[in-house]
Amino acid sequence: MFFLIVIMGIMSCHSVPKEIKVASPDGNIVLQAGTETGGVVYYKVDYKGKTVIDTSGLGILGKNLNLTKGFEVSDVVYNSHKGSWKPVLGEVAEIVENYNEMKLSLKAESGQKMDVIFRVFDDGLGFRYHIPKQGTTDTMTVLDEVSEFALTGDHQSWWIPGDYDSNEHVYSTSNLSEIDAFAYNAPSYEKKIYTQHIVLPKAVQTPFTMKAADGVHLCIHEAALKDFPALHLNYMGNNMMKAQLIPSADSTVKSINVLPFTSPWRSVNIAGDAAGLLNSKLILNLNDPCALAETSWIKAQKYVGIWWLMHIGKASWDYAGGSKDGKPHGRHGATTENTKKYIDFAAQHGFDGVLVEGWNVGWEDWFGKWQDSVFNFSQPYPDYNIDELSKYAADKGVKIIMHHETSSAVTNYEKQMESAYQFMNKYGINTVKTGYVGKIIPKGEWHDGQWMVNHYLRVAKATADHKIMVNMHESHRPAGMNRTYPNWLSCEASRGMEFNAWSAGNPPEHETILPFTRIMGGGFDYTPGIFETRMNAHDKNKKEIVHTTVAKQLALYVTLYSPLQMAADLPEMYEKRMDVFQFIKDVPADWQDTRVLNAEVGDYVSIARKDKFSQNWFIGSISDEKARKFEFKLDFLDEGASYEATLYEDGEGAHWQNNPYPVKISKRKIKKGDVLMVNLAEGGGTAISLMKQ
Ligand code: NOJ
Ligand code: CA
Repeated sequence: MFFLIVIMGIMSCHSVPKEIKVASPDGNIVLQAGTETGGVVYYKVDYKGKTVIDTSGLGILGKNLNLTKGFEVSDVVYNSHKGSWKPVLGEVAEIVENYNEMKLSLKAESGQKMDVIFRVFDDGLGFRYHIPKQGTTDTMTVLDEVSEFALTGDHQSWWIPGDYDSNEHVYSTSNLSEIDAFAYNAPSYEKKIYTQHIVLPKAVQTPFTMKAADGVHLCIHEAALKDFPALHLNYMGNNMMKAQLIPSADSTVKSINVLPFTSPWRSVNIAGDAAGLLNSKLILNLNDPCALAETSWIKAQKYVGIWWLMHIGKASWDYAGGSKDGKPHGRHGATTENTKKYIDFAAQHGFDGVLVEGWNVGWEDWFGKWQDSVFNFSQPYPDYNIDELSKYAADKGVKIIMHHETSSAVTNYEKQMESAYQFMNKYGINTVKTGYVGKIIPKGEWHDGQWMVNHYLRVAKATADHKIMVNMHESHRPAGMNRTYPNWLSCEASRGMEFNAWSAGNPPEHETILPFTRIMGGGFDYTPGIFETRMNAHDKNKKEIVHTTVAKQLALYVTLYSPLQMAADLPEMYEKRMDVFQFIKDVPADWQDTRVLNAEVGDYVSIARKDKFSQNWFIGSISDEKARKFEFKLDFLDEGASYEATLYEDGEGAHWQNNPYPVKISKRKIKKGDVLMVNLAEGGGTAISLMKQ
């Protein structure tokens, strides 16, 4: 079958074969498609001879175009691609991109037309709709997408509720039939998100990850998300998930598109085990190649910042909040003096950047007001001397990272974007963290709707035009767009470290779920590195804690991928534990190779990665609430070479809740094939650096 397809591809056959099928290059995945009763388009997927997606409907329902039935296949075109490409930043230096493609052209008696394009890779598949201009109809108002995923069992799944406005939820683990988007959290972590909108009781967000009874892992997500709402999935009963699109401000409409229109890809990862999901590059491969002519200015970065200080309540973003006469209250974090302190710390310890939040006017009115024109993105507070600080940072070889909290007044941001990026260029600032806290303006739009999807992309493009890298918070979750716009370094778009500072927090299993769910789509600015895990050390009235040991905080730099990594705690916390901090100083954020050493979703993850610019390897291994012992066979090291290994393990008696602090540091000489035995505490982890001698 495989050879048949390739030959057909080369011949670029235009006809309708009897069996409409396409297989992955290795032959393990076979996708079949066609039309069934009533002219409904369907597809079906087998993996290693077993059906993993049973007959599932496809189509888009428009107000003016019904592309869900009445079709006949008018043409099938096969194609295949074999190649590789080099990501600007990434987990590996080179990504293999081999797939077989099948384009199904469909025509209805009414004259309506649609193409469905399938691409099948060894690690999964994608499909997308192409809707040509139809006679005189040149726009389509989308009411619903009917893409189905008929799963072949009541799989175990990891999910967050189908919230139109936030992805900052704790993950639930349940069978498909038990999905309950309203009772979404483990009760002890129940915490409403500040801005949320959960409508359907059985809708979940993607990346949606499942494990079948036979151990096959599946993850449904999307790629090349442009000009369309983000994808959710609605559980329909009988193991069936159906596409659910976030509506626009007119709640009946999902999207309006000019024809011809090509939808984002719907992606399905298929892997024999959990590690297979982490090794997959399917979502990146489904995205378009890099759109930027020149990328040498795009760099992975490690940064510190005036940030945790505000989250733990030791300083404020605003300058004069609550004061009647506009006089400063004296708690402002982003002062010239404080920023210099952070720049000094960054320079001393080799960090690339210093994030400064609360530097610009507007923070007095930012929270909960749903108000336009709050922030000015070119006007610093009076106690923040941007001229002086830019020079100071440049002298020390450190970059200031700009912060643009929009408070979701996106119209206000759109008006100022150009001038704000020019302002950054003027001061030599080449990275911006954007944020979208609160309800969106234009009112009625959602964080994950079409209007906002287009906005985030406008930001990625406009920043690129100014040679600026961007890190988006509260954006839609990534869908591999960093292949096309590698300056779009990272996103939050999930429940990050900050929740541990001021809420019930993130359960110990949280970080063992993220790589298989949220991070499938791209880097996560999780902001690890908290050494003072108990908030009552900062303020005796506080009860919040970080739900990990300190050793696990180190391991997160390897297990939670992002080309932008923060050392999030206060410099004074690091100064107290320089021996432990050494790992954060050493670990890079850009990689030439990655090996998954072991993995089970929600239980543990161990990953080894090789620095992009040296021969050194780094290992991160994390556990959920259980203690674990692992053996790592170091067969990926260079033959004949000697490495100095430094192990940072949970120390004697370590436990995420009772005793998070002990870290046992040990050194030894290591060579290829050696075995390292490590112990992870409850909620713990191990970090290892392997420096080639
Ligand atoms: C939420 C972001 O996730 C956080 O990092 C930031 O500090 C606040 N918004 C303020 O912008
Ligand atoms: Ca956030």
